[in-house]
Amino acid sequence: MIRTVFWDRGAVSLIDQKALPNEEKYLVCRDYREVCAAIRDLTVRGAPAIGVAAAMGIALGVSSLPQNKPVEMRRAFNSICGEFAATRPTARNLFWAIERMKRRFEELSGQPVEAMKSGLIAEAIRICEEDIEINRKIGLHGRALVRSGDRILTHCNAGALATAGYGTALGVIRAAHEEGKRIEVYVDETRPVLQGARLTAWELAREKIPATLITDSMAGFLMQQGRIDLVVVGADRIAANGDTANKIGTYSLAVLARSHRIPFYIAAPLSTFDPSLRSGGEIPIEERAAGEVTACGGVRTAPEGVAVYNPAFDLTPGRYITAIITEEGIIRKPFRQAIGRIMRSPSPLPLSRGGRGNLSESDA
Ligand code: MRU
Repeated sequence: MIRTVFWDRGAVSLIDQKALPNEEKYLVCRDYREVCAAIRDLTVRGAPAIGVAAAMGIALGVSSLPQNKPVEMRRAFNSICGEFAATRPTARNLFWAIERMKRRFEELSGQPVEAMKSGLIAEAIRICEEDIEINRKIGLHGRALVRSGDRILTHCNAGALATAGYGTALGVIRAAHEEGKRIEVYVDETRPVLQGARLTAWELAREKIPATLITDSMAGFLMQQGRIDLVVVGADRIAANGDTANKIGTYSLAVLARSHRIPFYIAAPLSTFDPSLRSGGEIPIEERAAGEVTACGGVRTAPEGVAVYNPAFDLTPGRYITAIITEEGIIRKPFRQAIGRIMRSPSPLPLSRGGRGNLSESDA
């Protein structure tokens, strides 16, 4: 199994996603600031993985604090949490993980400092382990939507590397493959940073799941040729009405899928939902450095001085999304009601057995 992020004898180990697929190496962080830097520079990326890395980074920061007075410890803890919150703005899981660590801090307060430190380390490890379990459940729910023979398009990397393990969108693909369904995956290369080519193609090759790499602009033609049966992608943040922020290019795929009457699924844990936001327009969209666009693989591909716009994510309106696959089951429209219900009292929806059925224009 690919281990993306884990606690390793007082350090946080991260697989270096910038080095993949050419080199498989781990970055061992002994200072929480190294974890912050790894989130910012995409050594660790993908919404759930960022959340797990931040939780572990917070635990690492607290465990090395010299302060022994509760007041000083609280001040330092809050400041570390603030540094993690400032790393990347879009993925809800980052803020979810920070909030969870803060809740645990409150529960532990009053205990001896050493007990608080070990309690926070244990909480971060729990968040990591739970994420893998959650992804397996997403896979079990989502595989019912996949038929043997399906050709599946995915974008970016929503795999083991984007989570603590197994993946969300790739979790659905893995689960369908493990069930013995004959599937073929089309992988968008995902410019500018190539998470599809570098990471998703690498993960699928390791598991011998048939995969074909395409450039982002080829997706529409494949749909027109009738070569795509469904699209499944991950999410960075989902608003109360189902509007979804995900890797730049996702929106174009959703519009294309609608036009070709192809089902378009989001796979994401409940920790990606942000019911405090009424719609996608309220989701902060990260803009990244121009150098990601003016170069590819370290080689400059644009003239010096060219103006660049580099939003890392886009917004897919809920109306283009057929369904959202979560660990609690498959959420269908109307999303606002369904998301409200599941966030108020997550209780498992029954596992889907019926497959995806016939598509109407409104839910294709
Ligand atoms: O910029 P990245 O690589 O962190 O963006 C990742 C994505 O957009 C993923 O699709 C999303 O986080 C879902 S990961 C399960």
